[in-house]
Amino acid sequence: RGCKLVGCGSAVPCLQISNDDLAKIVDTNDEWISIRTGIRNRRVLSGRESLTVLAAEAAKKALEMAEVDPDDVDLVLMCTSTPDDLFGSAPQIQKALGCKNNPLAYDITAACSGFVLGLVSAACHIRGGGFKNVLVIGADALSRHVDWTDRGSCILFGDAAGAVLVQACDSEEDGLFAFDLHSDGEGQRFVSAIIYRSCIVVLSILSNKAFCRHLKATIRENETDHVLGTNGSAVGFPPKNSSFSCIQMNGKEVFRFAVRVVPQSIECALEKSGLTGSNIDWLLLHQANQRIIDAVATRLEVPSERILSNLANYGNTSAASVPLALDEAVRSGKVRTGHTIAAAGFGAGLTWGSAIIRW
Ligand code: ACO
Repeated sequence: RGCKLVGCGSAVPCLQISNDDLAKIVDTNDEWISIRTGIRNRRVLSGRESLTVLAAEAAKKALEMAEVDPDDVDLVLMCTSTPDDLFGSAPQIQKALGCKNNPLAYDITAACSGFVLGLVSAACHIRGGGFKNVLVIGADALSRHVDWTDRGSCILFGDAAGAVLVQACDSEEDGLFAFDLHSDGEGQRFVSAIIYRSCIVVLSILSNKAFCRHLKATIRENETDHVLGTNGSAVGFPPKNSSFSCIQMNGKEVFRFAVRVVPQSIECALEKSGLTGSNIDWLLLHQANQRIIDAVATRLEVPSERILSNLANYGNTSAASVPLALDEAVRSGKVRTGHTIAAAGFGAGLTWGSAIIRW
């Protein structure tokens, strides 16, 4: 049993933030950002806009392209690190799409590698689990977790959603040739947004005043977030909008990591599929930095005209970047039926991986 990609779609928020806009809030300029990253604009969710709605829009377009009815979807994989709901967004997307048969729906968290992992998971579900139509969505809203005073990171990120429909097929038509996936928790210190130690205690249930005092002191010592008073308000500690710190990143280390591991991973996947860099039609990397993309292409001896890149317009959209660039390239006619693509994701975790696919 094989699996093939039969549709794609994407959606981005309306609000666009240019490099010049950013120069008004941090000490930076268009020239620095463009030369060092290749990014010129990014889209950001605003007000009450929801990532779930954006993801459902991208998924709907993928279903329309594939001419598959929402009722025929039997699995929805939402690859995201920034769900609207702590417990995951995939079931809400299933609902928004109107999938009447209640397909299985769950989230996958693997930062900027999420979509590649989702693609491989879809293939495993199809090959081993009898699933027929699997929606793989990559969507993230890192703007909600960016430190907008940190010029070293806030210039990089944007919000978006992209989706593909992966469908069961005969093995001769198989469109996922090989993959290579990795993670390394040692590297977490290079990019993370860590949860604050938190302890939410309703003081009214504690009758022992001495214990309450002890608890408050202990919490204070441990820099814990907040303690809820009897009326639910924070006692002694400022309430926080998010229980995670903003993204903290050592850009240089992430850069070095990506340029080292991504070519290795793609070479490994190419070898498994009996191909070389010269056999692929397109190189489609996670859109983090144009200099990373160019360095990987050079290592793999892939000429620049075979690189898919749209990060100038959208920045680093995390799990969305690969399906967003794929969708743009398919709809513009660049990527055509039968083309072979080497796709790779890399990012926080650390996580990284690649997949050799046929469109
Ligand atoms: N504008 C102007 N100057 C800046 C800016 C800015 N936005 N940011 C940094 N600088 C300055 C620095 O302060 C430094 O000044 P100094 O020489 O006086 O000390 C100088 O520019 C060079 O800074 P570097 O950090 O060395 O710049 P670098 O060339 O490494 O580029 C960048 C930084 C763009 C962040 C790059 O390292 C990068 O793209 N790294 C990869 C990040 C990435 O891909 N993250 C993806 C993972 S995220 C995830 O998974 C959620």
